[in-house]
Amino acid sequence: MTGVLVTGGTGKTGSALVELLRGSGVPVRVASRRASAGDPDAVRFDWEDPATHPVALRGVDRVFLVPPVNTVDPMPLVGSFLDEAQRLGVRRVVLLGSAIVSPNDLSALELAARVRARPGWVVLRASGFMQNFLSPHPVGERIRRYGEIRTAAGDGRVGWIDVRDIAAAASVLLADPAVGPSDQRDYLLTGPKALSYQEAAAIITARTGRPVRVVTIGTDEQAANYRAAGTSAEFAAAIAAVEDGIRAGREDQVSTAVLDLTGRPPRTFAAFAQEYATQWAGGGSPER
Ligand SMILES: NC(=O)c1ccc[n+]([C@@H]2O[C@H](COP(=O)([O-])OP(=O)(O)OC[C@H]3O[C@@H](n4cnc5c(N)ncnc54)[C@H](OP(=O)(O)O)[C@@H]3O)[C@@H](O)[C@H]2O)c1
Repeated sequence: MTGVLVTGGTGKTGSALVELLRGSGVPVRVASRRASAGDPDAVRFDWEDPATHPVALRGVDRVFLVPPVNTVDPMPLVGSFLDEAQRLGVRRVVLLGSAIVSPNDLSALELAARVRARPGWVVLRASGFMQNFLSPHPVGERIRRYGEIRTAAGDGRVGWIDVRDIAAAASVLLADPAVGPSDQRDYLLTGPKALSYQEAAAIITARTGRPVRVVTIGTDEQAANYRAAGTSAEFAAAIAAVEDGIRAGREDQVSTAVLDLTGRPPRTFAAFAQEYATQWAGGGSPER
């Protein structure tokens, strides 16, 4: 088969991509640790089980790569996968990477460099997801339960992007491996406008009528919150440190890449908030 292996195919970005590719008539293989028996396109795939990698890759010529989640060190698992993809002649890999990568995240930097180095392979540097404001993401869950965002990002802004726009950009690059200038290996993907947490909270409040307050905390406290939610100490420190970068203004950027690739402007935060307004209805206990 020629077609696209979508890793993270059951996740937010991957599932939106699968829908778009299917809509364009592109054959897909939907990778998941729990391949559903009802989906003829499903393939069992587990980053932790390298035996599943060649089976998932066999016969496809394009890959959407969602690296292993919840780790600061993806390369031990992804490196051999990329070796295999290269050996099997995969023409295009589109990596879902992040706009902010700390200089200390050597493994993530190595992964992006590895993808970028290969002709036809592309890195998407995605800004913060609008969907972080929805449950079950911890930010969204806290808004739903307590009407509150706790952040160490100060009034730093982020070019929040709807994951459906990431999927749309990826689908253009994956539907036809000839698309995209051969020398462009890297796309910064953002929404149309950078917003602070305070500005995003005000938009949610305006669309829902529910007050959402922003409480400033330190990076150490944020890391402790992530650890308390079950995240490993190392990964909790890494994701809390992203807020230092936001506070320093490093996420305060927007690009035209979604429009350039898809021909449509990316969704605004206000449109996103309008669409999901009912999901922020309260429902939790008042204690914290
Ligand atoms: N949130 C942000 O603001 C942001 C910004 C930039 C980049 N990113 C990146 O976006 C990625 C997450 O994308 P998303 O939010 O679309 O995903 P998601 O909704 O969190 O879903 C995670 C996906 O990964 C799969 N998965 C989890 N563990 C796996 C394993 N051991 N082996 C194989 N598959 C596994 C899950 O599939 P099954 O459970 O079905 O196996 C699921 O499809 C992360 O790499 C993150 O760094 C996030």
